[in-house]
Amino acid sequence: MLPTAMHYSHTLLKEIVQPGQTVVDATMGNGFDTELLASLVGPKGRVFAFDIQEQALTITKQRLAQKQLLSQVSLLHLGHEHVAEYVQGPIQAAIFNLGYLPRGDKEIITLPATTKQALEALLLLLAPRGRIIIVCYYGHQGGAAELAAVQQFCAELPQESFNVLSYQFINQRNQPPILYCIERKKTALPV
Ligand SMILES: C[S@@+](CC[C@H](N)C(=O)[O-])C[C@H]1O[C@@H](n2cnc3c(N)ncnc32)[C@H](O)[C@@H]1O
Repeated sequence: MLPTAMHYSHTLLKEIVQPGQTVVDATMGNGFDTELLASLVGPKGRVFAFDIQEQALTITKQRLAQKQLLSQVSLLHLGHEHVAEYVQGPIQAAIFNLGYLPRGDKEIITLPATTKQALEALLLLLAPRGRIIIVCYYGHQGGAAELAAVQQFCAELPQESFNVLSYQFINQRNQPPILYCIERKKTALPV
């Protein structure tokens, strides 16, 4: 069966992230992506995970502690637009899940301007063959505008330096998420 956008995002990460590397979870939420990244980079690697909601940090910390993965993760109670102040490159991967926190406050959503700011900063940190994955949930109010901004940002990246993929089911009800993957080419020009 074809994987959902969420499952496919994990496949795209598993293909390239190795023990000892540095990676970013730009939208920690309930910590599912942080957990996967922490297990892939192992105790010698580092995951920087961002969220603006205390609730996300509490849940994620608990999840990581249960799996003994906390030591390789920096949980940052901050917007991802601050990534350049906390993370030094090169990073092998970053992941965004855009939208609101499942089972949380649906009014607190990711926003086009800060998402774009974070994407621009992450591109500067991305290693050759590194990937930035964006899973865009857009059924809520404001979601369509953010989807349009992300789609435009991705489509305008120069082909000489980046491969950009979009993955979506086009015959499903209820606006299933759309995945974008930006891969920096080995021969990429400086950003
Ligand atoms: C769809 S959820 C993420 C789900 C998460 N990846 C998981 O595994 O559960 C989106 C998250 O983005 C967070 N968020 C909103 N604006 C943000 C920002 N500027 N920086 C970082 N996180 C933000 C929300 O608080 C919310 O927890």
